[in-house]
This record gives sequence, C-alpha cells and structure tokens, in this order.
Amino acid sequence: MYAITGVTGHVGGVAARELLGRGEAVRAVVRDAAKGADWAAAGAQVAVADLGDRAALAEAFRGCAGAFVLLPTDLTAADPDAAHRALGDAIAGAVADSGVPHVVVLSSIGAELAEGTGPIRWLHHLENVVRATGTRVTAIRSWHFQEKAEMLLGAVLGQGVYPVFADSADVPVTMVATRDIGVLTADVLLSPAPGGEIVNLEGPRYTERQVAEELSAALGRPLQVVTIPREGWAGAMVDAGLPPRIAAELAELYDAERLGLYRNEGDRTVTGRTELAETLGRLVTSLA
Ligand SMILES: NC(=O)c1ccc[n+]([C@@H]2O[C@H](COP(=O)([O-])OP(=O)(O)OC[C@H]3O[C@@H](n4cnc5c(N)ncnc54)[C@H](OP(=O)(O)O)[C@@H]3O)[C@@H](O)[C@H]2O)c1
Repeated sequence: MYAITGVTGHVGGVAARELLGRGEAVRAVVRDAAKGADWAAAGAQVAVADLGDRAALAEAFRGCAGAFVLLPTDLTAADPDAAHRALGDAIAGAVADSGVPHVVVLSSIGAELAEGTGPIRWLHHLENVVRATGTRVTAIRSWHFQEKAEMLLGAVLGQGVYPVFADSADVPVTMVATRDIGVLTADVLLSPAPGGEIVNLEGPRYTERQVAEELSAALGRPLQVVTIPREGWAGAMVDAGLPPRIAAELAELYDAERLGLYRNEGDRTVTGRTELAETLGRLVTSLA
C-alpha cells in the first residue's frame, strides 16, 4: 500500500493513477472527503487528512510501504515562512509517528541551499526534517514545472499577454512535465534505493518565448510576450492577485536563478521526455 498526498493535484494524481495502473494498492490522501469519491471509484482506499494535521496524516501513512509528500504553497498564510516550516514539521511528525519506512519528497532544484531561494528553502527544511526521522527518503529535486504557465493564465486569457519575469524571453531553461514527475514517483516508491537518494529531474529546454508560442498555438489566439524588469516583479505579481509576501518570496526564487544558483547537486539525474506542446495541450483542454 502506498499513501499519496496531493492526489487531487498534478504530481500526486499522476503517481496514484500510475500505481493503480500497475496493480498496486493506493491510499489516496485528501483533505476534503468529497474529493475522495473519484479515487474510491478508481479502486483506491481514501484517507482524509490535512498535511498540517500530524495525527490524521500519521493515521493515513500507517501500515504503508511508502508515502509521497509535497509542500503546497499556502497563499493565505500571514507569515509564509513560519507557516510552511510548520507544515513541514507536521509532515515529518506524521512520518515519525506512523513508522512509514520510505518517503518520497517532492522537492526542487536548489533545495540543498538553506536560504536565498524563496519558497525552495521551505523544501530544504522539509527534506531535512523528514530525513531526521530516520526513515528512508527519496527526494525528487525537479526543475521548473511546464505547468508553471498556469500561474500566468490570468494575464494570458485576460489581456493576451505572456509575462516573463526575466531580462530576456530567449534564454532556454529546463522545464519538466508533472506527468514525468508522477511517473518517477511511482518508480521510486516501488524500487527505493537502499539508503535513500536525491534524484535531480530535468526535462526538455525551452525559452519563455517558445512557451508563449506553444500556448498561443494551443489556445488559437495571439499572445504578446512582455519581459518585466526586476524592479517590477513584485508589483506585477501582486497585480495578478498574489499576496505581497508570497510575491517577495517568488522574486527571491527568480533572483537565485539569475545568479545561477540552481544546479543538479543530487545523487543522479533523470530526464523527463514529455514535451511542452503535450503539457500545454492538456492544460488548454482542461480549461474547456
Ligand atoms: N512549480 C514549479 O515549478 C515547482 C518546481 C519544483 C517543485 N515544486 C513543488 O511542487 C509543489 C506543487 O506540486 P503539484 O503541482 O503536484 O501540486 P498542485 O497541483 O498545486 O496541487 C496541490 C495539492 O496539494 C493539496 N493540498 C494543498 N494544501 C493542502 C493541505 N493543507 N493539506 C492536504 N492537502 C493539501 C491539494 O489538494 P486540494 O485539491 O484539496 O486543494 C492538491 O492535491 C509546489 O508546492 C512545490 O513545492 C514546484
């Protein structure tokens, strides 16, 4: 039995479907019982637990051979740093209390760094507190998600603008499809490395202009690419609806990228093959 949190989201959803498709038993962990119905129909056990509820989460992990955990961004947190560290602590507490022998952590490139990386430093904390429980840990350190374009849909659909938080829209960067992360999650849950490991996950490389072109093609409407200078980042994100403190965190994450701080520092590197056109095609279909 494998417990999958974030099962209504991108990576957890793929991981759970992949495991079920391979004939494995899955416990789908949802925070809202109503969202469990589809998973029960698909053959999964359903457990209801918030990631911040140590006792309920421990119950969801109990008896499982492995668990998948993630650290979702809580946009409502008054103090995002304290809230995301506390969420990590609750997850680690549940791991310790349940005795689950293997945990796959959805982490990020740059998670070896303790600071200067915005939200990625919360994943640094999560990896460390889960490892400190003594359980076997597989950390998947992914580069940017191809689905990151979802965050820009307000500007894309509203103003026909594709905003780029960089000086140039023409620098190729690695972008990973969450489909590939979910499949890797299923693989490592079924075959964990003996002492645990850190897996860097890369994907194909695209420029932001290529993302805009693919999105434009998928939507069937033109998009204007607008690069936003550093001093305008936080304001643009707040205008798009993000709380100011989260906008400041994301700006720090992008700053670290400009400084070239993100590198493959794990034990091995896997390269996802799903192309952006497929991911964005699926994204646009889901809008309909
Ligand atoms: N974006 C990137 O480029 C990038 C790169 C590297 C790593 N990451 C990591 O990937 C994470 C996102 O993964 P994803 O895209 O698979 O997730 P996602 O699609 O954003 O879905 C989030 C999932 O977490 C659940 N959730 C949220 N808050 C919860 C809570 N308090 N208790 C229980 N469940 C909760 C949601 O459930 P509901 O349906 O109930 O809302 C949903 O299933 C980020 O938070 C980050 O840590 C992102």
